[in-house]
Amino acid sequence: MAAPPPLASLLLIPFLVVVLAASPPLSAAGDAHPGYSSGEGTCTVDAGAPPAPAAGGLLRERGPGRVIDITHAYVPDLPAFAQGAVTGPVVRLKHSMANGSEYNLSELRMECHTGTHVDAPGHINQGHFAAGLDVDTLDLDVLNGPALLVDVPRNTNITAEAMEFLKIPKGVRRVLFRTLNTDRKLMWEKEGDLSYVGFTEDGAQWLVDNTDIKLVGVDYLSVAAFDHLISAHVVFFKNPDIIPVEGLKLDDVPVGVYNLHCLPLRLVGAEGSPVRCILIK
Ligand SMILES: *[C@@H]1O[C@H](CO)[C@@H](O)[C@H](O)[C@H]1NC(C)=O
Ligand SMILES: *[C@@H]1O[C@H](CO)[C@@H](O)[C@H](O)[C@H]1NC(C)=O
Ligand SMILES: *[C@@H]1O[C@H](CO)[C@@H](O)[C@H](O)[C@H]1NC(C)=O
Repeated sequence: MAAPPPLASLLLIPFLVVVLAASPPLSAAGDAHPGYSSGEGTCTVDAGAPPAPAAGGLLRERGPGRVIDITHAYVPDLPAFAQGAVTGPVVRLKHSMANGSEYNLSELRMECHTGTHVDAPGHINQGHFAAGLDVDTLDLDVLNGPALLVDVPRNTNITAEAMEFLKIPKGVRRVLFRTLNTDRKLMWEKEGDLSYVGFTEDGAQWLVDNTDIKLVGVDYLSVAAFDHLISAHVVFFKNPDIIPVEGLKLDDVPVGVYNLHCLPLRLVGAEGSPVRCILIK
């Protein structure tokens, strides 16, 4: 005869239902960051549920303001990371009606790491590049799903100490790190500024060792602070399962949990790609 289920597990069921039904913004638990929920599932249930068919068979729309574009516009004035980096003109007319053509046709010319972009593992790791780990092989399941937006303390790079302070719960796979870069509006300065905030080598190592984060979003052109440019990238790309998303536009977005959608171009053989990223409330 089977033993009855323990009382504790029966009590847990209504508790879970209540937790899953609560929609973001979620209140802070303990001393955790105010943006934290109790887990990714809360966001999936809220934002991922299919819209219910309305009377008449039309899909119900959720109204304006639900989608937040966190991509910078690709304009000639995007910041140049390195001296001599190609920025604009990003788009130019190759055939122009003003010049007698029967049509207007633009061409696109830019470095693959301009503006809001993703890095593929081959960017810094020659073994991964040789193995064909280009942007076309990036895992769309990592690039799309529940994500947490956090505020990094403004007086520091993303060090091991800063990571520890942020107390990002286990199980969170996508985190967008907003830093001093956003306050300084660095993405609006055409001249690159190498004093930007990014991960130090020990910050990257802390993330790899202590979290489940696979998508690392930052608000300037490099996930790594300039003094750790190569070493922090090397840590992230040791295993090719972490995707840095760089140059995000995180201004005025409330801290919290969102559904993130990032779609890079299928640039075969490229180690980076422009990417359109949006958050859905
Ligand atoms: C084509 O480009 C010219 C500028 O060269 C512009 O004046 C014109 O409006 C464009 N035409 C169309 C159909 O977009
Ligand atoms: C039209 O042609 C002239 C002369 O080649 C060139 O200077 C100008 O930039 C062209 N304009 C466009 C919109 O392509
Ligand atoms: C972050 O590190 C860079 C060097 O990589 C430095 O110039 C900058 O001042 C640091 N920022 C902060 C807030 O510590």
